[in-house]
Amino acid sequence: MRIEFQPGNYREVVCDLLAYPVFEDEASDLASLKSLDQITRGAVGSVIASREFKPELHLTCRICKPAGLKARNLLLVGAGKKSNFHPAKLREVAGTVVRNAKSRACKNVAFFCREILPASLACRLAAEGALYADYEPGLYKTRDNEPESVDTLRLLFERRVARGEAEEGIRRGIITGEATNHARTLSNEPSNILTPSQFAERAMTMGASAGLTVQVLERDELEKLGMNTLLAVGRGSEEPPKLIILRIRGQEKRRAGSPLFALVGKGVTFDSGGISIKPPEKMEEMKGDMAGGAAVLGAMLALAQLRPRRHVIGLIPAVENLPSGKAIKPGDVVRSYLGKTIEIVNTDAEGRLILADAMAYARTLGAGCIVDIATLTGAIAIALGHVNAGILGTDQKTIDRILKNCSVTGEKFWQLPLDDEYRKAIRSDIADLKNVGNRAAGAITAAKFLQEFAEDTPWTHLDIAGVDLDSDGRPFACKGATGYGVRTLVHLLE
Ligand code: BES
Ligand code: ZN
Ligand code: ZN
Repeated sequence: MRIEFQPGNYREVVCDLLAYPVFEDEASDLASLKSLDQITRGAVGSVIASREFKPELHLTCRICKPAGLKARNLLLVGAGKKSNFHPAKLREVAGTVVRNAKSRACKNVAFFCREILPASLACRLAAEGALYADYEPGLYKTRDNEPESVDTLRLLFERRVARGEAEEGIRRGIITGEATNHARTLSNEPSNILTPSQFAERAMTMGASAGLTVQVLERDELEKLGMNTLLAVGRGSEEPPKLIILRIRGQEKRRAGSPLFALVGKGVTFDSGGISIKPPEKMEEMKGDMAGGAAVLGAMLALAQLRPRRHVIGLIPAVENLPSGKAIKPGDVVRSYLGKTIEIVNTDAEGRLILADAMAYARTLGAGCIVDIATLTGAIAIALGHVNAGILGTDQKTIDRILKNCSVTGEKFWQLPLDDEYRKAIRSDIADLKNVGNRAAGAITAAKFLQEFAEDTPWTHLDIAGVDLDSDGRPFACKGATGYGVRTLVHLLE
């Protein structure tokens, strides 16, 4: 899809579909829609008055061959209440427009940006939303006809907008939008295709073209380093584990005084639970247990192109968690890279094990600030459902920044506590700690476990287990992997 800024009046735009967002509040008072209504000789007022069109968020109404416009179709798209409006809604509305256009084979689309946000931000959000909406899974369908796609999206404004400002917004939106879709593709890949080795391969090929240096630590190197918890999780599988390390080319020389940010993403390419095997229901969804790793790769691909001032590295421990004669067993004890010993009481609590070694290694590499992202616990979905992801940690400054950005990223987070008292649940009789608590506060005790490996390095933990997958689809997105976290990490570091 080509996305471009279009100066001039929407009346003059020749296209298959011109989309015009309408706020709910405008349904009762048509004053702000007066000029559109007049141009279309009352068509807009009439669909609103007749209730054919209710401008609730994401509802649409198509007016064919509208009078007074050069567009073949006018699409009125509900933008919800103006008082509830926040920037992330624009991304969704642009997405709804693109999916509507796709479903009716409209190739050439124009989107009118209402006067509500700075032009560069509006352009960025619209571009991100458009690419997000255009994405389709079905990677392995053998079909005659490709799914429809929009060829061109032009962004229009009422006021005069500087071209440079609009184009910079679009550029950033395309970078982040594409990076998010890369993360979605990786998460949607079945585990027979996306093995840890294939994950590393893809990081190398995608990274090379975006401006990343990609280093992959192989099993023998992990053994030499003593990353025994990472190795322990991977031991049941024929597929060797990998530690993927991503650096931005040109950031080699770090300015003294600025902390190195490490993004650490859980990369379990399939989580069967291991010997503590999972029940079969929805086990297929565990091909997406590397969504945190995909978000880190996506964010690093975007950041390499956006060139942030902050120094950042990405680490993705990638493994497959399977039962076998070689697999770790409940009760086994391993010594982690940091030196702390762990009693593995449940082999299905594997994410925290691989993150423990990767986080400790990030500190060896000089990380002064850690953000980890993981489909870590089913408990987070019990607590927060599929609406908010969990955020916990010791780095309140970063947590606050992430929470503040939610209204722009559209990725919601809700903070959970990390009181010392929760630590008790992961005390072991035989080792320094055990990898599971009891059923209570499962998302928090998982985070308490990770905290042991961040020690005093400021650390933020994002538990995306409830939001990495959308099983229903939305008006602005197909179902499947969401790429959750890419935008959060990009905005944080930008
Ligand atoms: N990958 C799962 C968490 C998960 C569950 C992600 C559902 C997405 C959807 C994780 O490795 C896991 O199995 N966690 C266990 C921990 C338990 C054994 C303490 C869980 O949540 O049940
Ligand atoms: Zn598990
Ligand atoms: Zn898992």
